[in-house]
Amino acid sequence: MAKVAVLGYGTVGSGVVEVLDTNAAEVEKSAGEKIELKYILDLRDFPGDKHESQVVHDINVILDDPEVDVICETMGGIEPAFTFEKQALSKGKSVCTSNKELVAAHGPELVELAKANGVSYLFEASVGGGIPVLRSLNDSLKHEKIDSITGILNGTTNYILTKMDKEGIGFETVLKQAQEKGYAERNPEADVEGYDACRKIAILSSLMSGKHVDYEDIYTEGISKINIQDFEYARSLNMAIKLLAMCKRNENGFFTIVAPFLIPYENPLANVNGVFNAINVHGNMLGDVMFYGKGAGKNATASAVVADVIDMVKHKGKHIEVNMKAEKATLSPKDNAVRHFFVRVSAELEDQAREIFGSNLDVVKRNSIPNEFAFITDSISEKDFEEKLWKMDSVKGYIRLY
Ligand code: HSE
Repeated sequence: MAKVAVLGYGTVGSGVVEVLDTNAAEVEKSAGEKIELKYILDLRDFPGDKHESQVVHDINVILDDPEVDVICETMGGIEPAFTFEKQALSKGKSVCTSNKELVAAHGPELVELAKANGVSYLFEASVGGGIPVLRSLNDSLKHEKIDSITGILNGTTNYILTKMDKEGIGFETVLKQAQEKGYAERNPEADVEGYDACRKIAILSSLMSGKHVDYEDIYTEGISKINIQDFEYARSLNMAIKLLAMCKRNENGFFTIVAPFLIPYENPLANVNGVFNAINVHGNMLGDVMFYGKGAGKNATASAVVADVIDMVKHKGKHIEVNMKAEKATLSPKDNAVRHFFVRVSAELEDQAREIFGSNLDVVKRNSIPNEFAFITDSISEKDFEEKLWKMDSVKGYIRLY
């Protein structure tokens, strides 16, 4: 019998307990032994809760109990989660977590600490909620040289963009609706400005590179500047607008970016709607493989945490290798990335745009949007694009093409 402690009895933590209860037989079959919840750490008491008697308020009760093999950290945030995880690993307990902030900031260090102590550190639920993408990278795809990972990694922004596109509702209104429905946080900045997706692609990029991709080095743009008219243009181009997080291998190392992109309808990522996430992985031998599913939500995320618990119980006394080292990965600058850009300017700036961006621009016309000149540039580097943009008197907006 293996004993587990859950740190944090919030949405994900209570979900983990629910999965362990509801699927106890399946969990036991999969792990090869019974898995028992011994403690729940939380500041609060939970009178009347089925697991009320297992709630403790002092982490040392858990750390000092030699019976506890596995700890699920579902508190979120950097501290005290970071300290608790380090203490647990140092005491020879395996740790799994859904905490993307912590994994993006300190994942490689925690993996190395787990290795030094002969235990494991897994974090499947930190990216893509219930989608088993990290385990696949770490296992089924381990023999592949991964060339690129491109994902829709944030459910909130995908919900907002889908609503704007399908129902023609403006960003602010959809955001308010999403907050009312509980799909968006009261402070939506981390989602809408792309920071959440940035942390998730940092974790995926670290696994892809085997080193540490620092999320602070990733160029990140959110969706708050996208408006309804952008979708009108997008539809006329047979394209969707999605917040993509990507990492590509190139001759200099890796290039990563988070930004809204126009994607042709024939690309499966263009058809990922609502709160769903999808991750396309390209392996040098395998080609494309795509993972799709719920990127958030109590049960889906908890299911991924329990998958880690099972893995760690099956490998009790061993370290499960995770391809991530504390050494920093070399990221190539955004400037060199080459692509087409969709640009909108006022009609009176057409001549200036043609002069600056070239005369054979691909003009995009929407009669419903008067007094505007919209076009797609040639394939140019980010640096070149930025320089040209600066030369324009003003620009209404631009979106990268995938
Ligand atoms: N805010 C995140 C999202 C939750 O919308 O995807 C899951 O990490």
